[in-house]
Amino acid sequence: MASAVHFYDQQPIASGARSMREEILEGLRAPQKYSSPKYLYDQRGSELFELICQQPEYYPTRIEEGILATMVDEIANLVGQNATLMELGSGASRKVRLLLECLQITSYLGIDISRDFLLESTRKLAEDYPWLEVHAACADFCQRLRLPRNLNCERLVGFFPGSSIGNFEPSGAQAFLGGLHRTLPKGSGLLIGVDLLKDRATLEAAYNDAAGVTAQFNLNLLHRLERELGANLDPDRFSHKAVFNEELGRIEMHLVSTMAQVISVAGESFRFRAGETLHTENSYKYSVAGFQAMARRAGFASRAVWTDRQQHFSVHYL
Ligand code: AVJ
Repeated sequence: MASAVHFYDQQPIASGARSMREEILEGLRAPQKYSSPKYLYDQRGSELFELICQQPEYYPTRIEEGILATMVDEIANLVGQNATLMELGSGASRKVRLLLECLQITSYLGIDISRDFLLESTRKLAEDYPWLEVHAACADFCQRLRLPRNLNCERLVGFFPGSSIGNFEPSGAQAFLGGLHRTLPKGSGLLIGVDLLKDRATLEAAYNDAAGVTAQFNLNLLHRLERELGANLDPDRFSHKAVFNEELGRIEMHLVSTMAQVISVAGESFRFRAGETLHTENSYKYSVAGFQAMARRAGFASRAVWTDRQQHFSVHYL
């Protein structure tokens, strides 16, 4: 028997919210063309991201899951009883399964921008954990969070795994954490995964997997522009590039135009020089101390931090 998922569609109503079309066009008009990483996650993109997580070079998923599985009792102690777990960017809701058996929570809220993907994975979660009250909100968690009305949120524990925080500029990450801190009621917590600064070779391999899945993930953005914005372009005239920008402490993902060309998106033309790029994602890496300092400035106190032995990845309880 399938248990019901309480589902909420949160179309942005905030006055500052803009459509995909507007945001993409604005990025294409800039001197360094760019696109928000959130547009990588349509249905196909979310599926490809799950595949990335299975690639041998992509260490974050493997290491984070190892930490969560090993530390689950300690985490359960920190989370305490009768909390609601709120996962930001819940995707396939796979990582939370490592915790559910041990945490003494009553309800779960998954928030994700990819609607069908969210529905499917939270339905499966409700099926597999019949005692759990499952809520799903289709929303861009970068916008102000509006918590579903019939959610028990006396104690709300945020779960933000995968180092998705790395997609923000550091100033934006701090602002985002500050907003989260204001949203979470007193006595709440935040369990967050943060990828660590490390050698270039390990970092670059993780974003240039030999099977080419990350390349497909990146190039899928162009297919999405064709599908959803009536773009006129040939994805084969672009290639995937991911490099570690050491000064800024971030992996950058770009789509490189392999020739001089003109594409059109939503009726507007854009010229690319050969080698010119569309910057599609930043993934900032932190030191443990650097991230803790940022969290502190956002109002959080650090309760625990776990890393793997090689210090490749960290999980914080704030
Ligand atoms: C989901 C943002 C954490 O930056 O590692 C993986 C996304 N992009 N491979 C990351 C991603 C290319 C991922 N985050």
